[in-house]
Amino acid sequence: MIDEGVILPRDLPLWQDAKPYLDVRNNDEHTIVAYGLARALLAEMPQADESVVLPAILLHDVGWKRIDPELLLLAIGRNPTRKDLVREHEIHGVEIAREILERHRPEGVDVEAVLAIIDGHDTTKQARSVNDAVMKDADKGWRATPHGVKTICGWYDTSPVEHVETLEQVSNPYMLTAAGRAFAEGMCVAIKAEAQINRYMGEAADE
Ligand SMILES: [Fe+2]
Ligand SMILES: [Fe+2]
Repeated sequence: MIDEGVILPRDLPLWQDAKPYLDVRNNDEHTIVAYGLARALLAEMPQADESVVLPAILLHDVGWKRIDPELLLLAIGRNPTRKDLVREHEIHGVEIAREILERHRPEGVDVEAVLAIIDGHDTTKQARSVNDAVMKDADKGWRATPHGVKTICGWYDTSPVEHVETLEQVSNPYMLTAAGRAFAEGMCVAIKAEAQINRYMGEAADE
């Protein structure tokens, strides 16, 4: 069996160039997992354009590299105090992504369309286009993946159930596409159900 990589051959040169910008706050790992999720969402949404969504998700967070690492966690999470940095990483991100995309000019990729959804990917909450919706759902949906849960619980020293409750409270609307919502809600319910296994499997179940 051929072990196919999750990243398409077209996007590998972009990944190689993005990588040095993604070595902050697990952004490299986040990007690989979100890319995989984007591919799954794209399979459900033929009206979206993978040649825009996939390069965009690969490059969307490169701008964090230019933000003081000490301040990174203040920009996100439950009570962010430095939301201005979120806008800043988008602006830097567009600049860096443009450089990378113009260097490689990947075939069939509309560079301006990719940059347009990188710009504002966190600071705009609504779907500006179907491509934007899929990209945002892959990015935000990462928080509900096993990798996202493990990573974020590590940052804030919280339990998976607390994390899921935060997701449900603060991220509204959490997901923008039906496929994204089904994925995220399924993951959240599964995590809460997992936390109840003992309740049904333990002594109490014999009562
Ligand atoms: Fe971002
Ligand atoms: Fe992201």
